[in-house]
Amino acid sequence: MNQTEQSSVHPDPSNQQPLEERVNNRSHRPDSDAFRSFMAANWAPASTALPARADVADHAARRRRAISVQFTGERLVIPAGALKVRSNDCDYRFRPHSAFAHLTGLGVDHEPDAVLVLEPVADGEGDDGGNHRASLYFRPLAGRDTKQFYADSRSGEFWIGPRPTLAEFKALLGLDTEDISELEVAITKNVGEPSVGGISVRLVRKVDENIDALVDTARYNTAKDPDNMDFGALDALDAKLAEALSELRLLKDPWEIEQMKVAVAATAAGFEEIIKALPRAVAHRRGERVVEGAFFARAREEGNELGYDTIAAGGNNATILHWTHNTGTVNEGEMLLVDAGVEADSLYTADITRTLPVNGKYSEVQRKIYQAVLDAADAAFAVAVPGRKFRDVHNAAMEVLAARLEDWGLLPVSAAVALSPEGQQHRRWMPHGTSHHLGLDVHDCAQARAELYLDGTITEGMVFTIEPGLYFKDEDLAIPAEYRGNGVRIEDDILITANGPVNLSAALPRTPDDVEAWMARLSA
Ligand code: GLY
Ligand code: MN
Ligand code: MN
Repeated sequence: MNQTEQSSVHPDPSNQQPLEERVNNRSHRPDSDAFRSFMAANWAPASTALPARADVADHAARRRRAISVQFTGERLVIPAGALKVRSNDCDYRFRPHSAFAHLTGLGVDHEPDAVLVLEPVADGEGDDGGNHRASLYFRPLAGRDTKQFYADSRSGEFWIGPRPTLAEFKALLGLDTEDISELEVAITKNVGEPSVGGISVRLVRKVDENIDALVDTARYNTAKDPDNMDFGALDALDAKLAEALSELRLLKDPWEIEQMKVAVAATAAGFEEIIKALPRAVAHRRGERVVEGAFFARAREEGNELGYDTIAAGGNNATILHWTHNTGTVNEGEMLLVDAGVEADSLYTADITRTLPVNGKYSEVQRKIYQAVLDAADAAFAVAVPGRKFRDVHNAAMEVLAARLEDWGLLPVSAAVALSPEGQQHRRWMPHGTSHHLGLDVHDCAQARAELYLDGTITEGMVFTIEPGLYFKDEDLAIPAEYRGNGVRIEDDILITANGPVNLSAALPRTPDDVEAWMARLSA
């Protein structure tokens, strides 16, 4: 029985070829000695010029120091993550974990399998007077005399282009850099119970399963009583590191704020493309995909990618909060809700929503719903000031929406009763939160403690969204028919300064008149 017959009829794991060999069933790659020696010679030398130190390097060093002093004496392991298979031998585009990006300053495409290790040293003798020395372990560019150069489709220069050398990343990032072959020893050496002189390791888990396994094995091998390990306590060790890394991002530094502006500007350009593409969207059987594609083109042209899958939702689809299938039509007379963000090359993302009248003019009921959401957003803006609670932003928006729903006769109780914790009837039409932190992740700082996030105090340097909405579904029998099939969200990205909130996305028109004028100008 040949290999194909065997695997399609009754696979016997013991007889199966390893994955790598199976992939090579169709390989035409030569491997003779003659080929290898010919391949290794006669290449112009690669440039040895080193890059200048990146602007972000000093910020990343300060971030590492802030983490270092919270975990004195412990080894900290922050993986970038591995390439992920999309199907067969095709991978998804690589995007490093946000904690890794934050602490290294690395962005676009860098660097599969890399790991940042903060090694504990005597107090104050680490980098920048901290308590750790940082090393970045990665697979550096292989020489042209290696098989990797021409034969490795995931990392070889002939396949994916030149990659960084140890010296280049060291110069760029101001970090010690080490070959990935040294990583296992760096992570596992002297691991053990601190009570017997071992080093405690904390890991950002579920980023790279190979590193999870390495740390788990080291912990197991060095545990005093391996058969009765306290996995809960070990998980808590790692969770505390994730929490600290998340909380470190609650306040953005000046470099990050510039990156947010880059992301927002590219996103604004993307929304303009959407408006210009509307006639084609209306004519297309899947107009929402035309909208999605118009934005995506800008995301790739101006930035790294999308910060999250675009929501392009026409008519009733706008009432589905995370409608990302985008398979629907875009129809004259309906509204189109677009929630989209460009992720800059630095990996910071915008998160902006505009709800447009497809034919350029809101109907009376559309304008009425839109204005209520805008008023809620403006009320939220008014309390987004240093010293107020993060929760106040949501509550301010809810007060406006509950009052408006009461005025329209939609609430089964008074607005006051609905706003009480026991009521909340207004949330039928606005079931999501009004604000979330924004940055490297669209829902940034998600592991931060509640007392610093939802119950936290608004502080200069925070960046978060304000995004109230109202969603009246076609199938909602609790409201008059005139409201149905309309979803409105208005989402802006806010920077908190000492003088109050700055709307980073103010270049995108928000009021109904301004949106109509914007659309008229771009359609002319
Ligand atoms: N785009 C997802 C959100 O607004 O949170
Ligand atoms: Mn959002
Ligand atoms: Mn959004």
